[in-house]
Amino acid sequence: MTGYETHRYDVIVIGAGGAGLRAAIEAKARGLSTALVCKSLLGKAHTVMAEGGVAAAMGNVYPEDNWQVHFRDTMRGGKYLNHWRMAQLHAQEAPDRVYELEAWGALFDRTPDGRITQRDFGGHRYARLAHVGDRTGLELIRTLQQKAVSMDIDVFMECKVLRLLHDASGTISGAVGYWRPSGDVVVFEAKAVVLATGSIGRVYLYTSNSWESTGDGHAMAIWAGADVIEMECVQFHPTGMVWPLSVRGLLVTEGVRGDGGALKNSEGRRFMFDYIPEMFRAETAETEEEADAWYEDHIHNRRTPDLLPRDEVARAINAEVKAGRGSPHGGVYLDIATRRSPDYIRRRLPSMYHQFMELAGVDITAEPMEVGPTCHYMMGGVRVDPETQAATVPGLFAAGEVAGGMHGANRLGGNSLSDLLVFGRRAGMGASDFAQARSGEPAVDAAQVDAVVADALAPFGRDGGENPYEVHEELQETMQALVGIIRTGTELVEALGKLGELRDRTAKISVAGGRAYNPGWNLATDLPSMLTVATAVTQGALARRESRGAHTRDDYPDADPELGKVNFVQRQTAEGGYAAPIHIGPEPLPEMPPELRGLLEEGH
Ligand code: FUM
Repeated sequence: MTGYETHRYDVIVIGAGGAGLRAAIEAKARGLSTALVCKSLLGKAHTVMAEGGVAAAMGNVYPEDNWQVHFRDTMRGGKYLNHWRMAQLHAQEAPDRVYELEAWGALFDRTPDGRITQRDFGGHRYARLAHVGDRTGLELIRTLQQKAVSMDIDVFMECKVLRLLHDASGTISGAVGYWRPSGDVVVFEAKAVVLATGSIGRVYLYTSNSWESTGDGHAMAIWAGADVIEMECVQFHPTGMVWPLSVRGLLVTEGVRGDGGALKNSEGRRFMFDYIPEMFRAETAETEEEADAWYEDHIHNRRTPDLLPRDEVARAINAEVKAGRGSPHGGVYLDIATRRSPDYIRRRLPSMYHQFMELAGVDITAEPMEVGPTCHYMMGGVRVDPETQAATVPGLFAAGEVAGGMHGANRLGGNSLSDLLVFGRRAGMGASDFAQARSGEPAVDAAQVDAVVADALAPFGRDGGENPYEVHEELQETMQALVGIIRTGTELVEALGKLGELRDRTAKISVAGGRAYNPGWNLATDLPSMLTVATAVTQGALARRESRGAHTRDDYPDADPELGKVNFVQRQTAEGGYAAPIHIGPEPLPEMPPELRGLLEEGH
């Protein structure tokens, strides 16, 4: 009993993007009382920003594709930091999840003979992305949403969850939050909780993520004592809009390059040919003629370097801009206009056409786009058991971007939509099994709830304190400048100092007005999460003294084979939320079975 509005379920899922929806569908299908809780409106989630497609080795375009090649590509893209079992399950189960989605109504683009067609994306050996133009994430969300609604899953919208709650034994027993429209407190009691809260992008200045992505799930898991891994691995998608400033960071789908678009510098040179890493040389075209032949004839053993994995492309763009060969607004050019017909562009990339026309006044069928890296995806997250998605704290599960392990040091494009389908389902199964086996009702401690609520409301009781917007802006500037694409030890230490100051200032934030739809207060309650994840990212980046995947250290430019054998695991052992320290240390990666290691070595 808490004295607050309270709801009780077997399973609650926090976050209603693709992973959350898929988890809730699974739990409900297994007969458990299930609720979906989301900060925004149903259907509005970062999942829509995976535009270009869902990766699955269905073999519809290249019959020689199979799960073994997809597994190999994923591990290689992640620079072997991935949890091998997650990468294996993902590659094996993704095709079934796509066909399931089709059966639930998703309208994928087709091959001439009527099968689901698949497009090329970075780091994938074969054209493997099932897609709906450049609106695949949107179609996925719509389909899952329809399915969830048809199953009568209870949905609680516009609810900001503040903290997870645990019983006396430390098992998770629910969560506490507030309704954004009223500011009133709400408590969810649950036998199992699935986190599906997505990303952390709003800790950076330039991001493809929308306002919801404040790392709430990552932070709540840390505060609950769960392990998080690979927090240093933050993906900068190579192509975000750079102009106009008001939309800087907005995603430009990799589908543009998958469909023939080429990156060029201010001299008109296709600079990606200068940045082919040794690891990918054997299968990457070294001349424009060879690359274009691959596009035209689909000779698939020498792919264009425009479709190297994202970390490689983002670093190359960064280097071109730094060398003074960038575009007027600090990006490079992405040209599809001279490479494909206007009809083709409008049919295959309708959102990109409209996005540039409406927001930048650029007709991409006639002019190049200006693009540059944007914070897009968090590889790091809650350490989970691959089969069940159980976190290291009992009663807690995580799926999608809030979970770590699947993508290692760098995610391949298209692997996020398949990840959230495969592991959303598995989290729903894991949480259901846990809830069914749990005896008695989950006990919620009223004192825990009162303490969380008092903390959240404290900014109303302060006068003349810190402004949450100023703290947020400084946090974003700090992360962008000091913990961005290229990092150094000195700057990371400086960032940790600055984050400490921002933590102190966050404790003094004051807000005016009432609790109903108060954006200043809403931001004040997001800041603790953002500070916790920013600290974990920075600590991880400082600890990993090497360059691997999306994590690049200027002072340690090479990969260190010894560090390729460990995850940096972070864990909070003391209560205290964002103000308490987070312990960090290396732990060995799980041992990969020899037959899978063989797949990597054979160069499948
Ligand atoms: O570029 C894109 O369409 C993004 C896809 C993804 O992040 O998987």
